[in-house]
Amino acid sequence: MKGIILAGGSGTRLFPLTLVLSKQILPVYDKPVIYYPLSVLMLAGIQEILIISTDIDLPLYQRLFDTGEQLGMSFSYKIQHEPKGIAEAFIIGEDFIDGDQVVLILGDNIFYGNELESVIRKAMKRKTGATVLGYPTDSPGSFGIVELGDHGKALSIEEKPENPKSKYAVPGLYFYDNQAVEIAKTITPSKRGELEITAVNEAYLKKGQLYVELLKNGTAWFDTGTHDSLLNAANYIRNIQKNNRLYIGCIEEIAYRKGFIDREQLLKLAGPQQNSDYGKYLMNIEE
Ligand code: DAU
Repeated sequence: MKGIILAGGSGTRLFPLTLVLSKQILPVYDKPVIYYPLSVLMLAGIQEILIISTDIDLPLYQRLFDTGEQLGMSFSYKIQHEPKGIAEAFIIGEDFIDGDQVVLILGDNIFYGNELESVIRKAMKRKTGATVLGYPTDSPGSFGIVELGDHGKALSIEEKPENPKSKYAVPGLYFYDNQAVEIAKTITPSKRGELEITAVNEAYLKKGQLYVELLKNGTAWFDTGTHDSLLNAANYIRNIQKNNRLYIGCIEEIAYRKGFIDREQLLKLAGPQQNSDYGKYLMNIEE
């Protein structure tokens, strides 16, 4: 199972914050945005990850994560020259995916909740088809919207519909079998000129192979695409971390708990970060 983090785009809705900085490198409280989606893939047990970003921003991620070996992982990097759509990730990532199953996560999506891992496990167990998540929203015009059918299957899926058929938004975490690359190659750009991820999901739907897992109450999902959502996410993370003394998106801790690295390596990663609360937290992680 491979993982892709799509961390490109121009971030125009966050100007002037993103005039010279990549949106997925901005802070959400105490860590860069990208730590959060990366931590979700790690919780899913995925160790081989492709990060896709613009030619200007990709070197930032390479500096941040390098080969990934320090986390017991393997990171690859690819450029998306223009923001031609989320589904282009499969075309850019074809060699990396190499006929395997793949989980795609948007680099600005944050998920948190106790039930998240079990939902992910369920989605990853499916060997055929695609699985999207469903999360109730009050602004269906801003998201992909999925309608539930029988037996966990989707009945319809639409991108930012004017007349939504359901209240369930599709968050930016998607699970695919080995058909995603070929399907992405067959879709054509939408009215906004993008290869839509919803078009890929629609193709699965037509084959009767699109499944939905609803995110349960108590699971949080933030798309950090606007100033307000960025601040909301930061406040949320801060509150949980202060109140529960449990860090969200702490990639070194997850690497350790998942057995990707040993204690010695955890402390080695913590050492240079000791001046921050984050580094102190790493130093004090119990066995
Ligand atoms: O956040 C979930 C939503 O993401 C889904 O409900 C929608 O179905 C899906 O289309 C997408 O909607 P947005 O219009 O909000 O996507 P946006 O253009 O903001 O892109 C999402 C992220 O992907 C953002 O961090 C930038 C990155 N991106 C986007 C495009 C189009 C790329 O890296 N390359 C791209 O070509």
